[in-house]
Amino acid sequence: MLQAALAARKNAHAPYSGFSVGACLRGKSGKLYAGCNVENAAYPQGQCAEQSAIGVMVAAGEKEIVEVLVVAESPEPVSPCGGCRQRLREFAGDQTPVHLCAPEGLRRTITLGELLPLSFGPKHFR
Ligand code: THU
Repeated sequence: MLQAALAARKNAHAPYSGFSVGACLRGKSGKLYAGCNVENAAYPQGQCAEQSAIGVMVAAGEKEIVEVLVVAESPEPVSPCGGCRQRLREFAGDQTPVHLCAPEGLRRTITLGELLPLSFGPKHFR
């Protein structure tokens, strides 16, 4: 997963922040879906790496995430932003592990439920 996320991160479009991020999702099928951040001159239109990876996964026909990995270079482990926690929640459960990585390797693993407690999600419609 780290290799796939790093490969996507190489293609990040981050000319404004200079902060390149890669993400990789493992679907229930076992397939991997990677993405990078895609910034925009109109700043709010930028897209996070997790969001890109979700688009790739859904376009491929998969809707269940069993593992998430995010990679960036930072003094602190980089975890998904608030918006992406909610986006991940659409396709992942409270127990889904989220691996926070540096390019050199794993820094910390946390669950989506820890990142987004008492979340609002698809279960509220059932
Ligand atoms: N970013 C991500 O792609 N994922 C994260 O988990 C944190 C932040 C991006 C958004 C923006 O392009 C850049 O990092 C700086 O915020």
